[in-house]
Amino acid sequence: MLVVGARPNFMKAGPIWRELRKHKRFQTLIVHTGQHYDKGMSDVFFRDLGLPKPDVYLGVGSASHAVQTARIMEKFEPVCLKERPDLVMVVGDVNSTIACALTAVKLGIKVAHVEAGLRSFDRTMPEEVNRLLTDQISDYLFTTCLDGNKNLIREGIPRNKIFFVGNTMIDTLMRMKGQNERKRGSGEAEKLGYKHKRIRKPYALVTLHRPSNVDNKLIFRGIWKALEAIAKKIPVIFPVHPRTRKMLKANGITLTPPSPLERERIKVRDDGIILIPPLGYLEFMSLMANAALVLTDSGGIQEETTILGIPCLTIRNNTERPITITQGTNRLVGTDPKRIVKEALKFLTPPSPLERERIKVRDGSKRRPELWDGKAAARIVNVLNSKFQITNTK
Ligand code: UD1
Repeated sequence: MLVVGARPNFMKAGPIWRELRKHKRFQTLIVHTGQHYDKGMSDVFFRDLGLPKPDVYLGVGSASHAVQTARIMEKFEPVCLKERPDLVMVVGDVNSTIACALTAVKLGIKVAHVEAGLRSFDRTMPEEVNRLLTDQISDYLFTTCLDGNKNLIREGIPRNKIFFVGNTMIDTLMRMKGQNERKRGSGEAEKLGYKHKRIRKPYALVTLHRPSNVDNKLIFRGIWKALEAIAKKIPVIFPVHPRTRKMLKANGITLTPPSPLERERIKVRDDGIILIPPLGYLEFMSLMANAALVLTDSGGIQEETTILGIPCLTIRNNTERPITITQGTNRLVGTDPKRIVKEALKFLTPPSPLERERIKVRDGSKRRPELWDGKAAARIVNVLNSKFQITNTK
C-alpha cells in the first residue's frame, strides 16, 4: 500500500508505483490521504505524472497538526484492516507520512520509509519531527544519500534495515525531462501562457511556504522586501502556495486571478513580482529549468535544481539536504533580507564566477550526488523483492 498525501509526495511515489507494477509478485494500492486537495496541489500532479486515480481517497483536508494527523490515522486504520496490506510504504516527511506509518506499525504491518534519514537538526520544523519518528518505527529505510545512513545509525537504527538507493524524486525528474524539454523547445513562455514581454528576459523563480517563513509576519515582510529589491533587477516569478496566499492577503498583497481578456495566468506587479497560482509538475519544471536563479524554502527544489544545474538560494538557516550544497548548486542564505539580496545579485551580474560554475554544472563537469541516476525506485523494489517476507496472516 503506497501512501501519498501532499504535493511533494506524488513525484516521490510515482516511480515506485511504476516499478512495483513490473513485478507480478506485488499488488499495489495507492492511498491518497487528501492532505492536499486543491486541483493545483494534487490532481494536476496525477495527470502530469501519469498516475492512476488513487484506489482509496481519505479526504482529510486541512486542520491543525494534531487534528490533521489524528484524522489521517482514524481514516487510514479501517483501510488497513479491510485490505490487510503486507507492507505500507510512506514517502517524505509530511503529516501523512508519520500518521500512516504509525497506524500501520500498531497493526503489525511492516512499514517502508522512502527518503529516510534526512535531518535538519531543527526540531521546530514539523517535518523534522515527522522524519525522526517515522524512521524509528520503519522496517525498511530507503535513503537518498549516505549522510542519511549515518544519521540513522547514530540514532540507533540497525544497519540491516537501512538501504541506500538514491532519490526517487530525481527518477521522476529524469523520466519527465524529455517532456519538459518539448515544452521548453516550443518557447516555454508562450507555451505556459506567460505572455508578458518581460518573461522572455532571464527571470528568477521563487517558492515559499515554510511556516517559519510565511507565518511569521516580520520574517515574511523581510523576505518580501528582498524579493522587491531583486525584482528591480530581474522579473521574479512566484507561484504561490495556498498557505502563502493567506499570508500575502494578511499583509495586504493580493494574488489577482487570470484576466479573462488576455487569457493570461499572470499579473505583473509594479515591483516586477509576478504572482501566479501553484503550477503543475511539468509547468514548474519547465520554469525551473529555464530560470536564471531559484529562491526557495522547499526541500525538493534544492535537489531538483542541483540536477538541473540551476543556482538555488535556500531561504532557510538549515537544510536536511546538505548534499545539495556540497555536491550541487544550493546555497543557504537565511532570512535576512540584505543577505538574500546580496547573494541573489551575485548571480545577476554575469559573467560572475558563480555563473561560470553554473555553466560547468550544466556541462556535467561537476559531480552529481551518488545514485541520483533515475534508478532509485528500481533499487527499492529490488530490495523488497529479495528481502521482503510475507509474515501477515490474512
Ligand atoms: C505540507 C507539508 C510540508 C510540505 C508542503 C508542500 C506537513 C507538516 N507539511 O505543508 O512538509 O513541504 O506540504 O506543499 O505535512 N491548503 C489549501 N489547499 C490544499 C492544501 C492546503 O488551500 O490543497 C491550505 C490550507 O488552508 C492549509 C494550508 O494550505 O491550512 C497548509 O496546508 P498543510 O497541508 O497543512 O501544510 P503545508 O504548508 O502545505
